[in-house]
Amino acid sequence: MLVRDISEMKSIVKDLKRKGKTIGFVPTMGYLHEGHVSLIRSSRKDNDITVVSIFVNPLQFGENEDLDRYPRDLKRDQGICEKEGVDYLFYPSYKDMYPEGFSTYVTVEGITDKLCGAFRPGHFRGVTTVVMKLFNIVKPDRAYFGLKDYQQFKVIQKMVRDLNMDVQVIGCPIVREKDGLAMSSRNKYLSDKEREAAVNISRSLFEAKRLFESGVTDAERLKERIIEIIMSSPEVREIQYVELVDPENLESKEKAEKGDIIAIAVFIGNTRLIDNIQL
Ligand code: PAJ
Repeated sequence: MLVRDISEMKSIVKDLKRKGKTIGFVPTMGYLHEGHVSLIRSSRKDNDITVVSIFVNPLQFGENEDLDRYPRDLKRDQGICEKEGVDYLFYPSYKDMYPEGFSTYVTVEGITDKLCGAFRPGHFRGVTTVVMKLFNIVKPDRAYFGLKDYQQFKVIQKMVRDLNMDVQVIGCPIVREKDGLAMSSRNKYLSDKEREAAVNISRSLFEAKRLFESGVTDAERLKERIIEIIMSSPEVREIQYVELVDPENLESKEKAEKGDIIAIAVFIGNTRLIDNIQL
């Protein structure tokens, strides 16, 4: 069922709570793919009711980013939600989410300065603010996030812990295309040539993990090999970062240990793609 109105969503939730139903929640920006679907399936497994939201949140886009061209297709997304047995598709409008005079924000400090945060100022503030709003509307028992956006997952986890919120934040594995490319709504932007170049991102991460498993722990050596693989294609405009980080505080490390994360952000043409792997 499609719900556009915030107060209607709240009264549905109130009713479900009164009946003792558990609510699983999957926040998205739409243009759904198998990555989103995996979160929906996890939620359906753990909860009585599953709510999916679609809201392209302007607050988390920088000035020169892709807000205006971000892919949208509500009809298609609705079909996917129906097929997957989603109970409620919450689709609020911009003016209801951010009415005139809106001026309250949620900021998680520290881990938001690193990785993507260093290159997208204000991005995580936009994410935490909208997710806090959505949590307050949907009041989920469990919320599902993909590990594809590893930093986002850790930031939300920290917000929930720091602010004593009653929601369990669950991280779900990265879903990939057959050739390894992490699924993303932004993959739609890629030309055929760019799509070919994009596969080197995941390929380089798998190769780094293989090197680690064969005994290489020096971050510089791992990073060099990753950069070599990714830059082998002329389609790649820029590697924004390649970092070996601690999985909890996201601090950069010089020596790799099991459980560490290698995270990458790359511009292929004008499209910014991210990916990561856990060692
Ligand atoms: P969006 O990019 O639509 O992603 C919604 C959720 O799907 C996120 O938790 C993301 O990590 C997950 N996801 C995306 N691609 C995935 C993949 N290949 N495998 C597994 N999970 C994947 O992330 C956002 O929207 C927004 O920032 C949001 C949290 C909705 C706040 O606006």
